Amino acid sequence: MKKTKYVQIGMGGRSRFWDRALATTYKDTCDLTAICDINRTRLEVARKRLIEHYGYHDVEMYAAEDFEKMLDEHKPDYVIVTTIDRTHHKYIIKAMEMGYDVISEKPMTVDDDKCAQILEAIDRTGKNLRVSFNYRYAPHHSQLREIIAAGTIGEVKQVHFEWILNTSHGADYFRRWHRDKRNSGGLMVHKATHHFDLVNFWINSYPVKVYAQGGLKFYGRENAEERGVTKFYSRCHGSENAKGDPFAIDMAASEELTELYLNAEKDDGYIRDQSVFGDNISIEDTMNVIVNYANGAVMSYSLNAFSPYEGLNVCITGTKGRVEMKLIEAIYVNGEGDSDKEGLIESKKIIVYPMFEPGYEVPIKELEGGHGGGDPVMLDDIFNPNAPYDPLHRAASHIDGAMSIMTGICANKSMATGQPVNVFDYINIPKEKLNK
Ligand SMILES: NC(=O)c1ccc[n+]([C@@H]2O[C@H](COP(=O)([O-])OP(=O)(O)OC[C@H]3O[C@@H](n4cnc5c(N)ncnc54)[C@H](O)[C@@H]3O)[C@@H](O)[C@H]2O)c1
Repeated sequence: MKKTKYVQIGMGGRSRFWDRALATTYKDTCDLTAICDINRTRLEVARKRLIEHYGYHDVEMYAAEDFEKMLDEHKPDYVIVTTIDRTHHKYIIKAMEMGYDVISEKPMTVDDDKCAQILEAIDRTGKNLRVSFNYRYAPHHSQLREIIAAGTIGEVKQVHFEWILNTSHGADYFRRWHRDKRNSGGLMVHKATHHFDLVNFWINSYPVKVYAQGGLKFYGRENAEERGVTKFYSRCHGSENAKGDPFAIDMAASEELTELYLNAEKDDGYIRDQSVFGDNISIEDTMNVIVNYANGAVMSYSLNAFSPYEGLNVCITGTKGRVEMKLIEAIYVNGEGDSDKEGLIESKKIIVYPMFEPGYEVPIKELEGGHGGGDPVMLDDIFNPNAPYDPLHRAASHIDGAMSIMTGICANKSMATGQPVNVFDYINIPKEKLNK
């Protein structure tokens, strides 16, 4: 049987989730033949890891400027894009223009102009783009969809959703490239794309109007100064002031962070361990959003990035009852250890409260793997040629990718202007394609 051929661009922390699966579980049906990055050291780390850790065959390495050359020489079936968010559109569009289908990490992109460019390229080239929304595949998130689709709570009218990031994972976004809003779209896009996609998926609708407020209220130098902090540093590595700061990350203490980032600084100057209490942070750590959906439902959503624990609370109320989900996640640092440690669940509960009847707890299926067991299921859906039919249709298209980021993109616009924002003023997708 001919193997499906893949190439990958962006060989940082998240890339391993993809190349490990190709090199191990799916090695008999899939073939990763080339990898590409702007950073030579990270390329070499990825190549070595594939060969030495997974016993995989050699893969060819390409510099980012040779992306087109890589496609010309390898002619893959799919290009996997795992670069930083701001650059996704560039590689997605170029790959499609050269005739290739693409799998992209979330978020599909970071603003409405780049989103429009991607949608235009898909229409023009007829190529396929799949966005990897792994959260949909976690058993508890899938079960919430099943509960709502079965009509258990009737027609959904109201959603209350809070996502809580802790002082480890949440803080990490303020040390890395994400802290510059141009790179990530802020947490409203980079992180909340998962959550807004889940809501679209759960209630089978899409956003039409967004109002948001947000700000940097805890991280950043000014906030620390207000709290009386007087010792500052720009990065942890080599800093006396960083010693004893619970928000500092010591890359030298971790073999993986050292090889992936510290040793790679010489190539591109990217500093992964910046102080969360430094200047030049342009993303928010505290966000509140109101969203109107096409089906008439309204959501209140909040995201906080400096909480003592990590998890979520969701309450969805319909014409026949209410469902509530509460999760607490374990601590994880991106780039350190296997990605299947990311999003591990410490505790989880779904309770259904039918109108006029006692509430009952819904047992949640147990699955192994990252993001609450969703990661392996999604990988199978993508890489297994004989994957079973998915009645929940969890494979996310470019339309799903676009409609999830549009909530965050419009929230960013609303935060900047103080005004509510109509989603369809900034995206042009014919209603029939939204298919809801
Ligand atoms: N689905 C999930 O749960 C999940 C989890 C983590 C990260 N991600 C996504 O994965 C992607 C990568 O994140 P990460 O945590 O691995 O970041 P990272 O910083 O560890 O890696 C990013 C990689 O992109 C490379 N890169 C940067 N600019 C480039 C360019 N112009 N051309 C080519 N390569 C370039 C960097 O050198 C680096 O190797 C992001 O889009 C992120 O949103 C998704």
